[in-house]
Amino acid sequence: MGSIAHGLLAAVTLVALAAEPQPGDYTQNCTTASCHGDLTKRPVVHDPVRQDSCDACHEAEDGAEHGFTLTTDAQELCYECHDDPEGANVHPPVAEGQCTACHDPHGAAVKFLLTAPTVSEVCTDCHDELLEDLAFLHGPVAAGACTACHNPHASDLSSLLKRESVKLCTACHETIANRIGTLPHKHPPATEDCTTCHNPHGAGNKMMLNASPPDLCFECHDDIAELAEDATVKHDALTIKKSCSNCHDAHGSTSEHLLSKKPLELCLSCHGKSVKSDGRTLIDIAQKLEDNPRRHGPVGEGDCATCHSPHGGEQFRLLAGAYPSTFYSPFSEDAYALCFTCHDVEAFEDEETDELTDFRNGERNLHFLHVNRETKGRTCRACHDVHASRHPKHITDNVPFGAWSLPIQFVKNENGGSCAPGCHNQYRYDRESPVTNIPKP
Ligand code: HEC
Ligand code: HEC
Ligand code: HEC
Ligand code: HEC
Ligand code: HEC
Ligand code: HEC
Ligand code: HEC
Ligand code: HEC
Ligand code: HEC
Ligand code: HEC
Ligand code: HEC
Ligand code: HEC
Ligand code: HEC
Repeated sequence: MGSIAHGLLAAVTLVALAAEPQPGDYTQNCTTASCHGDLTKRPVVHDPVRQDSCDACHEAEDGAEHGFTLTTDAQELCYECHDDPEGANVHPPVAEGQCTACHDPHGAAVKFLLTAPTVSEVCTDCHDELLEDLAFLHGPVAAGACTACHNPHASDLSSLLKRESVKLCTACHETIANRIGTLPHKHPPATEDCTTCHNPHGAGNKMMLNASPPDLCFECHDDIAELAEDATVKHDALTIKKSCSNCHDAHGSTSEHLLSKKPLELCLSCHGKSVKSDGRTLIDIAQKLEDNPRRHGPVGEGDCATCHSPHGGEQFRLLAGAYPSTFYSPFSEDAYALCFTCHDVEAFEDEETDELTDFRNGERNLHFLHVNRETKGRTCRACHDVHASRHPKHITDNVPFGAWSLPIQFVKNENGGSCAPGCHNQYRYDRESPVTNIPKP
């Protein structure tokens, strides 16, 4: 910058360029064909130059030499005709009167008498590190239009900005503004400052994000960062492809929790096919729901996240509460905490009952009989499907016994029912008239 100021001072004494000037004569017309004629031939000529009013800015030093000084101090010269810049924050080169760092006082190839063909070339002459290493440049930056956002001289806003933060961006990104405006759930930072997430100039990625999710999101959501980091059971949905953006819309959403799709659709967008992971294959949940019209309460509500922790957790299958992972398990209320957040544990606690459960033979509680054991208690999956089934009471088609899958053949009738799994012969139960079943020989 100092060098530019010196350049200006040096120019105060101009040495003759024209051939054989006649002493005292040269102030009459400076732009003849043989003298400074080129000054008026550029595509954009400064008004006083076009008027041949060289003396608006230059005056002869003395009559004997073809030497000129500027009429005023270089820092003040332009203000003779132009107003002071308006704004609380003045761009340093402007404050220092270095108008000619960006403008040619005589004429230029482009409008505004700029010293380079595009605004950005003018700017990056000094801000040479700004766009370094940016793989993707923002549209207006790539077009060289720094002044789409910045005032080159001064502004009341910080960073010489033309508009306040969100308005700066939505002046062009109207569709984003219109969309966020109509959404019932808005992400607070997207209503406050777009640049908390986007670099206005460009970035290493196409969306110009300051960092990629999840790191971008963890800057503010450190609780989720901790949860995901500490989880013994992790969900790959947080690490594959777009990470958090697989499920959340960072601007806003019609769904609660800024979900990018309706909750059920969201989970099925990945679990609408079987998913291979760590040598096992998770079933296609969409297919399951299509084949089995009776959906379990929360599944029917489309609320997968009441039972599964989408960000990771401590329980197998990302379950939100305890549930045994095995076919057999000792019984305790805690071991089935997940089911007992919504269902009554009493149905499993008394050996005899005439009301706590319909799964009884007379007063003999068959839930107690099967489930409430110190060692080989059968877990709910032996008889129920937690997602959906074709049978009443969410009875499953098949008992998942190790590598086997045994048809359960459940039949329900008015006072009870029957089943014939691989575990025993067809057994019946009847709440009104208890049945005596014959065990396998
Ligand atoms: C609006 C003010 C202004 C007007 C009008 C003006 N000049 Fe200049 N001129 C300057 C300034 C400022 C410099 C110093 C440029 C620098 O060093 O960056 C300069 C420098 C010069 C130089 C030195 C070489 C150069 O281009 O830097 C010549 C020659 C010159 N002017 C000729 C003229 C002639 C001839 C006219 C009239 C046709 C004229 N000027 C009109 C402001 C003006
Ligand atoms: C950092 C570069 C830079 C400096 C320094 C600078 N300008 Fe500008 N100036 C620009 C740019 C770029 C534009 C074009 C504005 C646009 O694109 O909207 C401009 C436009 C102008 C215009 C025409 C439009 C308007 O705003 O009236 C005038 C007059 C002007 N400048 C005068 C000056 C004067 C006088 C100074 C010194 C006090 C100065 N400029 C210093 C970059 C600069
Ligand atoms: C003698 C008066 C005068 C002086 C001194 C003067 N200008 Fe100008 N300038 C004008 C006039 C007149 C216009 C054309 C009307 C307008 O656009 O305001 C103009 C226009 C401009 C423009 C806009 C050009 C365009 O393409 O729209 C810029 C930039 C500019 N001047 C920069 C400067 C700078 C830099 C200086 C100091 C080196 C300076 N002016 C000194 C009178 C002057
Ligand atoms: C002659 C050198 C020079 C040119 C050319 C220049 N700048 Fe600057 N600019 C500076 C200096 C010096 C600073 C203050 C130090 C810094 O932030 O780098 C600055 C600061 C800024 C700032 C930050 C202001 C703040 O309040 O934090 C912005 C924005 C800026 N310039 C934009 C531009 C734009 C846009 C252009 C082109 C129209 C441009 N600059 C051209 C020298 C220049
Ligand atoms: C889409 C709007 C937009 C465009 C276009 C734009 N900027 Fe900026 N610029 C900003 C915003 C917003 C800031 C405030 C700092 C931030 O949040 O990163 C800024 C900050 C700056 C700063 C100061 C802070 C820093 O990062 O060093 C400079 C210098 C700057 N811009 C120069 C430029 C130049 C040069 C261009 C053209 C090549 C340009 N800008 C184009 C919006 C823009
Ligand atoms: C002068 C108009 C203008 C302004 C102001 C502007 N943008 Fe842009 N933006 C564009 C253009 C043009 C593109 C490139 C076209 C496209 O990809 O949609 C773009 C692209 C983007 C993209 C990438 C879109 C993609 O699909 O790759 C993001 C993100 C973006 N802008 C964010 C912002 C933010 C944040 C701001 C405010 C700091 C902002 N824009 C201000 C014009 C603008
Ligand atoms: C909390 C971080 C965050 C904030 C704040 C934010 N964005 Fe984004 N934005 C993103 C992410 C993440 C993406 C990429 C989404 C994807 O990969 O599907 C994106 C994508 C975009 C895109 C390109 C895709 C599209 O939807 O067209 C544009 C343009 C955009 N943002 C503009 C804006 C504007 C304008 C604002 C301010 C009103 C803003 N963003 C605020 C995080 C944010
Ligand atoms: C600049 C800080 C900031 C960044 C960065 C940020 N958020 Fe937020 N986010 C907030 C604030 C503030 C809230 C509202 C208060 C709250 O619910 O924690 C919020 C709320 C949310 C909510 C809604 C919570 C609810 O219960 O409704 C979700 C989901 C969310 N953010 C996801 C994200 C994702 C995904 C990203 C990364 C793309 C991200 N956030 C980046 C600050 C941020
Ligand atoms: C598999 C889809 C999915 C992914 C991936 C995901 N989320 Fe969520 N997120 C959800 C669902 C569903 C909810 C609402 C249910 C709940 O509260 O657990 C939610 C709720 C939230 C909430 C608000 C409630 C709370 O738990 O605090 C925040 C904040 C949040 N997510 C941030 C993030 C961040 C940050 C990431 C990336 C590390 C992320 N999410 C990744 C599905 C996801
Ligand atoms: C972006 C794709 C994606 C989305 C969206 C997604 N998942 Fe997943 N999910 C996976 C992948 C891949 C696996 C297998 C790897 C693993 O265990 O994380 C998986 C595994 C699971 C598992 C088994 C975890 C284990 O360790 O046994 C459950 C349960 C699950 N997801 C539930 C959900 C729920 C509920 C939703 C909706 C909130 C959801 N997923 C949304 C990709 C996704
Ligand atoms: C009522 C609680 C509950 C709800 C609601 C629920 N799940 Fe599950 N989910 C479970 C339980 C329990 C398991 C473990 C089943 C087992 O191992 O017997 C499981 C297992 C899974 C698995 C692993 C399947 C496999 O092949 O091992 C996936 C994937 C899954 N659920 C996705 C979903 C999706 C998607 C939704 C929403 C449509 C959903 N869950 C709703 C309780 C639930
Ligand atoms: C978030 C609450 C919730 C959780 C957790 C839950 N359920 Fe349910 N369950 C319901 C609701 C509501 C119904 C009634 C609607 C229906 O029939 O699906 C129901 C119904 C049932 C039924 C059929 C009862 C009937 O009268 O038709 C069975 C069997 C069942 N659940 C088993 C389980 C098992 C096993 C678990 C644990 C893995 C479990 N549920 C966890 C809410 C829940
Ligand atoms: C051996 C098979 C079997 C096991 C194991 C089993 N159930 Fe059931 N359950 C049934 C049958 C059969 C019915 C239907 C009774 C009827 O309505 O005739 C039933 C009914 C239910 C009902 C409806 C209310 C009631 O009690 O009649 C709920 C809720 C229920 N079971 C939850 C569970 C839970 C939770 C577990 C695991 C802790 C579990 N069941 C284990 C077979 C079983």
